[in-house]
Amino acid sequence: MTDVRQTESVVAKLFRSEQGGHEQVVLCQDRASGLKAVIALHSTALGAALGGTRFFPYASDDEAVEDALNLARGMSYKNALAGLDHGGGKAVIIGDPDTDKTEQLLLAYGRFVASLGGRYVTACDVGTYVSDMDVVARENRWTTGRSPENGGAGDSSVLTAFGVFQGMRAAARVQWGEPSLRGRRVGIAGVGKVGKHLVQHLVDDGAEVVVTDVRADAVDAIIARHPQVGAVGDAEVLVRTPLDVYAPCALGHALDDPTVAALTATVVCGAANNQLAHPGVEKDLADRGILYAPDYVVNAGGVIQVADELHGFDFDRAKAKATKIYDTTLAIFDRAKADGVPPAVAADRLAEHRMAERTPAAEWLRP
Ligand SMILES: NC(=O)c1ccc[n+]([C@@H]2O[C@H](COP(=O)([O-])OP(=O)(O)OC[C@H]3O[C@@H](n4cnc5c(N)ncnc54)[C@H](O)[C@@H]3O)[C@@H](O)[C@H]2O)c1
Repeated sequence: MTDVRQTESVVAKLFRSEQGGHEQVVLCQDRASGLKAVIALHSTALGAALGGTRFFPYASDDEAVEDALNLARGMSYKNALAGLDHGGGKAVIIGDPDTDKTEQLLLAYGRFVASLGGRYVTACDVGTYVSDMDVVARENRWTTGRSPENGGAGDSSVLTAFGVFQGMRAAARVQWGEPSLRGRRVGIAGVGKVGKHLVQHLVDDGAEVVVTDVRADAVDAIIARHPQVGAVGDAEVLVRTPLDVYAPCALGHALDDPTVAALTATVVCGAANNQLAHPGVEKDLADRGILYAPDYVVNAGGVIQVADELHGFDFDRAKAKATKIYDTTLAIFDRAKADGVPPAVAADRLAEHRMAERTPAAEWLRP
């Protein structure tokens, strides 16, 4: 029998509320530059929808729309729990960033962002970089993730790593009674932009760190800086190594069934997006007594950083906000315990509550 939902058009899916409930979806085309883009606004309940621009060679236009819808919804939840007065949105540009990205195309895209009059604030994502946002920003006032020379905050991985470390401190407090990683063994899979800063926080806190990366040069750079850090061959070996904390900081879907079964760590807290490979993994983790700090909560330092750009970037102000990831993560663990649900479910509930109540950032998490 044919699955009706699989053959259903994306427009039908969009208007079926349990699938999306998005406020607005804009299809953009500029013939002169070849731009084809989708801007999806999931919610502006808490303020202008904020989320990055993905540049990706989608197999089909429908796939691009679906990705924009899913990513935009994810940003509503992330921004709500980051304590930002922003809703969730995301844009995708259909094409190969290596061959299709031109100045003309980025400017055309910037004019579409301008046409939304501030309902959507954009930033970098997979396939777009700070230098691209500098171009997009020439056409509108609602582009963040720009270079410091253009009034931007630059590389967002600094505060992303800081936020992940705050989430880890919260998990340590729940699991071991102290908000510290001192004497704990932490395994990091992926020591790229975020992972390398996370190593520094952990070493400063007195943790024992073990890393892995598919790029030998990334591991070598860590060991050169921190000779006491250990390294193993790959993530599969890392999760089997005796660990207290596992930090996925590479790609999505790091927590699949074999990984969860093999994990020695009793805390999982890392920067990677979409760590849970499929629904149900969050329960498997909880059933094994593993405390999972929800990915979109602990990796919100980057979006906190770009949101600050709208007010004239101030690193200390953004860092103070990212410090609150500690309190938010604790609140999620508390709620999970009280409701008898995994932390990932508790996080979604708290985000939905804030959106439904339209609680301003100033009141979010106030006791
Ligand atoms: N940069 C940010 O501000 C930010 C914000 C939120 C979320 N994230 C997420 O955090 C993760 C890391 O981001 P990043 O900016 O550090 O990216 P990055 O590309 O700089 O680093 C990722 C690292 O993971 C390594 N890697 C890839 N596959 C691997 C594997 N199978 N095993 C081990 N290592 C592997 C890569 O070689 C690279 O060194 C991504 O999932 C990203 O979406 C990043």
